[in-house]
Amino acid sequence: MKLYNIAVFISGSGSNLQSLIDYSKKEENKKSINRYKINLVISSKKDAYGLDRALNEGIEALYLEDNNKIIKILEEKDIDFIVLAGYLKKLDKKIIEIYKNKIINIHPSLIPSFSGKGYYGEKVHKAVYESGVKITGATVHIVDENFDTGNIILQKEVKIGNFDTADIIAKNVLEVEHKIIVEALLLMINNRVIIKNKRTIIKE
Ligand code: GRF
Repeated sequence: MKLYNIAVFISGSGSNLQSLIDYSKKEENKKSINRYKINLVISSKKDAYGLDRALNEGIEALYLEDNNKIIKILEEKDIDFIVLAGYLKKLDKKIIEIYKNKIINIHPSLIPSFSGKGYYGEKVHKAVYESGVKITGATVHIVDENFDTGNIILQKEVKIGNFDTADIIAKNVLEVEHKIIVEALLLMINNRVIIKNKRTIIKE
């Protein structure tokens, strides 16, 4: 049994962070062979509500922009995996190198659709709505040096109803995000994600 130390990077409300926190406190997490603990939250925005969520749970939560300071605290906290949960800044190349294939990101669409530079938060759902697609969803992927191009770990679809607005789409997708972000982290800590070129094999 191993306890993995997790750092979560945020920029906003932190509802995905909250989902990760809530699961980490559940009995099944405590009883599973490999489990995780969120040891650190880093925000790119000083006023991110996600910082309050972390502090309420006794988790060290910092507003940090300096990459060297970020690397230093990641090492001090002996972080095993990093989860980007609504983190709007481009992660420093050096961090991506140090934590190669150990950083995951949640994106509110079915990558590669509606992804890449400029596609984040509400902008994604507005583009989805205006495109007329009937299905959208959420993706958790490995972070590489570009925006939203790393190997896909999990995707979950969300059907779009005839009268769904961008806000309704956003709400429905966020509910799915909260589920797959936990599922994907559990796959990572249980070493079930095998990367083969651009494909990702999930070991049973
Ligand atoms: C989510 O929609 C996530 O997919 C996107 O930003 C939003 C973050 O929401 N990257 P929260 O801060 O986790 O509530």
